Amino acid sequence: MPKHFRYRSLEDLQEDITRLGLQDEIRISEDLSPLWNPVSFGNRTIGNSLAIHPMEGCDGHLDGSPDELVYRRWERFGAGGAKLIWGEATAVQEDARANTRQLWIHDDNVSDFENLVLRTRIAHKKSIGRDDDLIVGLQLTHSGRYSYRKPLIAYHDPAVDPATLIDKKRKIPVPPDYPILSDGDLKRVEDALVHAAVLAWKAGFDFVDLKQCHRYLLSELLGAKMREGEYGGSLENRTRLVRNVIGRIREATDDQLLLASRMNVYDGIPYKTDPDTNEGIPREPYPIPYRSGFGVDEQSPLKEDLTEPLAVIGLLREAGLQMINVTMGSPYYNPHVGRPAEKAPIDAYETPEHPLYGVARHFRCTAAIQQAYPDLNIVGTGYSWLQQYLINAGAANIRDGRVTIVGSGRGALAYPDFVKDVNDTGEMIRKKVCITVSYCVALMRGKHNELGQFASGCVPRDKMYAEIYKDMLKTAPDK
Ligand SMILES: Cc1cc2nc3c(=O)[nH]c(=O)nc-3n(C[C@H](O)[C@H](O)[C@H](O)COP(=O)(O)O)c2cc1C
Repeated sequence: MPKHFRYRSLEDLQEDITRLGLQDEIRISEDLSPLWNPVSFGNRTIGNSLAIHPMEGCDGHLDGSPDELVYRRWERFGAGGAKLIWGEATAVQEDARANTRQLWIHDDNVSDFENLVLRTRIAHKKSIGRDDDLIVGLQLTHSGRYSYRKPLIAYHDPAVDPATLIDKKRKIPVPPDYPILSDGDLKRVEDALVHAAVLAWKAGFDFVDLKQCHRYLLSELLGAKMREGEYGGSLENRTRLVRNVIGRIREATDDQLLLASRMNVYDGIPYKTDPDTNEGIPREPYPIPYRSGFGVDEQSPLKEDLTEPLAVIGLLREAGLQMINVTMGSPYYNPHVGRPAEKAPIDAYETPEHPLYGVARHFRCTAAIQQAYPDLNIVGTGYSWLQQYLINAGAANIRDGRVTIVGSGRGALAYPDFVKDVNDTGEMIRKKVCITVSYCVALMRGKHNELGQFASGCVPRDKMYAEIYKDMLKTAPDK
């Protein structure tokens, strides 16, 4: 029996939203027409207001190029009808990958990425009839402290270091004398980002995302108040790397590559499992003032403070960025913040809050940003827990100027053609929706095969992943 999502109708959902006092933050519309608004993006048009969020499947070849499962996922997204496909995390250098099978774009595999764009476009055109208004981007990432070979950290974070392991088997956290990336190292990261962006442009992507979320490297830098030198301390320093990269990409591509960023607007604080309840509790004691996170209220870190995120978005817009995908939290230390879920993944705690509070946090922060920058394209996150009603919440948010484009992440893994169904029938089919039970995350955490990584996808809705999941459990060393 689901614990939280028990709704048989939109009225049931509305009742629960009201019961929790969240009716200002989570709104519902039966009129879905806002979802079909076209959106201007640079000199292009996005044909509707629906996006597929970046969803990596940890299923590339060891050399970083897409394997068949990657093509399959992108083709399914392409055929599904969303007009914005926000391609998944793709590393800009090998040691910056988050896992052994993460995509990695480099000089020797550009043609594979070109093929990926092409196959996605062909699938879209075949299914929808036209692809001139389909926009396909690539998320460029440096995994920073979550790089798979070893943590590459921007600064020693008293709250996050104890939750970052240098030895996962023996559970040894980052020690105080662990080296941090130097300013010279970060300059080389700038070079790698610019180089990868040019390659993505050559491969035919319409835009790149300079990933600043989920506490990977550029996200960590946004909160690097305690770092010294050119890339830490002041907001100007903390945004130096991304601003430099934007300027250099614009120059290198003659302003032809559109630029976006997926950005954490609230990092939150690390959580751990309460052994008595299995639910998440803050890792105590966290310091006050809490200076570790970005977008975090220093006096009350369980709450957001959007002063800095709003300022950064202003700086990025001035520098030439045209779209922001708003997200939050860390998949490693507070997954309930980024991904409101019905059931925890195997490596995490059960949600410490009703997931509607998590959805409301996403919507509230996104609305504040959209309302501060009404002319900027803002993509919203955190919709999947709403299952088939995500379209009603999305339509209301667009209608009320609280977001420009509604994105689906886990929802799209389960149900890649939801946009087509909504277009054809006016609703999402209940039997196809994501039920947020986190098997996709469990698969991401599986490392014990010959490739060092199991492929991830939707276990309840996509049979082949149920097989992979069974295999993962069967072969687990500590089962
Ligand atoms: C299996 C899996 C893969 C993901 N891959 C990425 C990724 O490559 N880049 C990224 O920014 N977020 C990634 N995310 C986060 C999602 O894009 C999204 O932010 C999150 O699931 C919340 O949105 P939702 O409620 O629509 O699922 C991933 C999440 C999952 C569960």
